[in-house]
Amino acid sequence: MSESRLLDGKVAVISGAASPRGIGMATARMFAKHGARIAIFDLDLSAARDAAASIGPEHRGYVCDVTSREACEAAAQQVVADFGAIDVLINNAGITQAARLLDIDSASWDRVLDVNLRGVLNLSQAVVPQMKKQQGGAIACMSSVSAQRGGGILGGPHYSAAKAGVLGLAKAMARELGNDGIRVNCVTPGLIQTDINAGKISDDKRGEILAGIPLNRLGVPDDVAGAFLFLSAPISSYITGAVIDVNGGMLIHG
Ligand SMILES: NC(=O)c1ccc[n+]([C@@H]2O[C@H](COP(=O)([O-])OP(=O)(O)OC[C@H]3O[C@@H](n4cnc5c(N)ncnc54)[C@H](O)[C@@H]3O)[C@@H](O)[C@H]2O)c1
Repeated sequence: MSESRLLDGKVAVISGAASPRGIGMATARMFAKHGARIAIFDLDLSAARDAAASIGPEHRGYVCDVTSREACEAAAQQVVADFGAIDVLINNAGITQAARLLDIDSASWDRVLDVNLRGVLNLSQAVVPQMKKQQGGAIACMSSVSAQRGGGILGGPHYSAAKAGVLGLAKAMARELGNDGIRVNCVTPGLIQTDINAGKISDDKRGEILAGIPLNRLGVPDDVAGAFLFLSAPISSYITGAVIDVNGGMLIHG
């Protein structure tokens, strides 16, 4: 018996999905296996195109810096021209920066907030009109355990603030867009092994982190991709405004 395809015929936009070992790329691969056609948005056009081509010829890459509303609008319009629809949006693009409170200057604050939080607003604003036309859609946004526990692993307070902002923005979008059949949810991953943290964790720190993870391993990109798949597919059709932890039990709520 063949595995069921949870996103058959759907068109999915995934931001920040050109990094080969990243969560966005893993999500693109998993979604493609489940029958979706993927529009990969990232900073570099050729990297985005190469990433899309590595999954299969029916997928496409687009240049889109999510900090620019114009870039988001142009890329979303091009996806509609190319594929005829947008059914799923994964707001995944993000950056982090290790900094202590007193070391956060204005430029760092702006950069971290712009990519992680304003980027979610920009890309959602670019895609939602098309979803409204289609009378439905699923949006899933990338937050972090950092938003819930106040950082403490790699990102500084500005990263925690940005990712906490994503939770509020997504919940407000869920409330506003429900009547249009558009669901909006978030994931809050713990420590996932990707290029964002590669080489930045000493063996001691790693041991310390593992001691606090009941599942006793760090996460891998597919762990998060699976949560995005669930939130994007019709099997989660009555779930909106929710937050799914993908953290191996690092943070278990009371
Ligand atoms: N890895 C973790 O432990 C972890 C944990 C929680 C949340 N996250 C979040 O997951 C998301 C993906 O991160 P990752 O770990 O796969 O890292 P990554 O660095 O591999 O991927 C991030 C991607 O976002 C792209 N990007 C950066 N700025 C962009 C912009 N302005 N416009 C468009 N694309 C942009 C990068 O080019 C890259 O492809 C990020 O939002 C990150 O904050 C990661």
